[in-house]
Amino acid sequence: MSKAPEQTGASAMWGGRFAGGPSAVMQRINASIDFDKRLYAQDIRGSKAHCAMLVETGILSPEDGAAILDGLETIHREIESGQFVFRTELEDIHMNIEARLAELIGDAAGRLHTARSRNDQVATDFRLWVRDALDGMEGALKELQATLIDKAEAHADAVMPGFTHLQAAQPVTFGHHLLAYVEMFGRDRGRLRDARLRLNECPLGAAALAGTSFPIDRHRTARELGFDRPAANSLDAVSDRDFALEFLAAGAICAVHLSRLAEELVIWTTAQFRFVALSDAFTTGSSIMPQKRNPDAAELVRAKAGRVIGALNALLVVMKGLPLAYSKDMQDDKEPVFEAADTLELSIAAMTGMIRDLSVNTLQLKDSAGAGFTTATDIADWLVRVAGVPFRQAHHITGRIVRLAEDQGCTLEELSLADLQAVDPRITAEVFGVLGTEASAASRTSFGGTAPANVAAAAKAARQRFL
Ligand code: ARG
Repeated sequence: MSKAPEQTGASAMWGGRFAGGPSAVMQRINASIDFDKRLYAQDIRGSKAHCAMLVETGILSPEDGAAILDGLETIHREIESGQFVFRTELEDIHMNIEARLAELIGDAAGRLHTARSRNDQVATDFRLWVRDALDGMEGALKELQATLIDKAEAHADAVMPGFTHLQAAQPVTFGHHLLAYVEMFGRDRGRLRDARLRLNECPLGAAALAGTSFPIDRHRTARELGFDRPAANSLDAVSDRDFALEFLAAGAICAVHLSRLAEELVIWTTAQFRFVALSDAFTTGSSIMPQKRNPDAAELVRAKAGRVIGALNALLVVMKGLPLAYSKDMQDDKEPVFEAADTLELSIAAMTGMIRDLSVNTLQLKDSAGAGFTTATDIADWLVRVAGVPFRQAHHITGRIVRLAEDQGCTLEELSLADLQAVDPRITAEVFGVLGTEASAASRTSFGGTAPANVAAAAKAARQRFL
């Protein structure tokens, strides 16, 4: 005669064929409760939908259904209030909740798992969790965009040096620079929305891998859980983690964007640049150097991209080469996603705060806008436009003018007309009209260009498109 699990130490959930229980090490490597407890709300939601469907299809009696729903509500309250005792020997959130349900309502609890497996259960829970994370992140990015657009609008006409190779290139406006990030975060939001469309199919009812012999209604559970439809193939439904990978991929690209903006803040706040100042709320002092104001939040946002990229890599490697259908490897899908979601939430919030509080040193921006002969292209363009010189020649002539200014240790604007005409006699006094950084920026009126009028219009358009 076989012994009851409580006498052998085997799992009460699956220990029927086991004579002994798992070793302590086995429990440690096998248990996921320490991290998958974060799925409790989704697990309860999924179970409620499953239970309601079982009652509606006549698989479960209304009385058992009512007892189960009641018990699940109690458990939800117990977890929210911190009273619930999570047990490692019960492995994961699914079995912790089911075991507690049995304590609360007795035998009826054992009927909830009809026509379901932990494989479709966890896939459903995790999709619901990632869906919330996607929505939360999209909302946070929208707020960041709103903050950037406000700042951009306020500084639509503040000229600054634009860079390529981090070498002064051409004057741009500060507003224009910020709106570049609005575009980047807009694409990030697009990727999240796009991922959501593919995510939004319901695995529940795929059961272990093959579907079930019970007359379940997968469309009903899908609808109740806010999915667009049930996943079409039961094997795919329990094996697929594309939705998590897509979230991480979109998150990793977003983290890269955040790190680029963070890096610019780090550069811009140095004594050498002084383009912007961060608020006290987002900087720290040095314990030895009283003058210091360190951009720690920006540096940490820059650093944290590593975690998100790492999470994407981790899950890609977990999934690579896994045969269909479920493998326990997939239990390792959650921590990277949780870590990335937490990191992104914090990074976006920190960036939003830094940008909101940012003070812009418009004088310093203007002073440095011309350094590095940033209006050289404007001379070349002027030679083309006014004197009919082919651009390649104009480029060469301007190069000689730059060398002259370099030799004299002055800016392009400070060269005399005689100096300029010595390089090329076709140059007239009119050229001084394009040598100033403000005139240069104002002349860039092509679509998507940096002219203040464009930037003001682009900020307005961005509000329409993104907010
Ligand atoms: N804790 C498991 C996970 O997260 C739940 C699914 C377990 N399924 C199984 N067949 N052992 O993946």
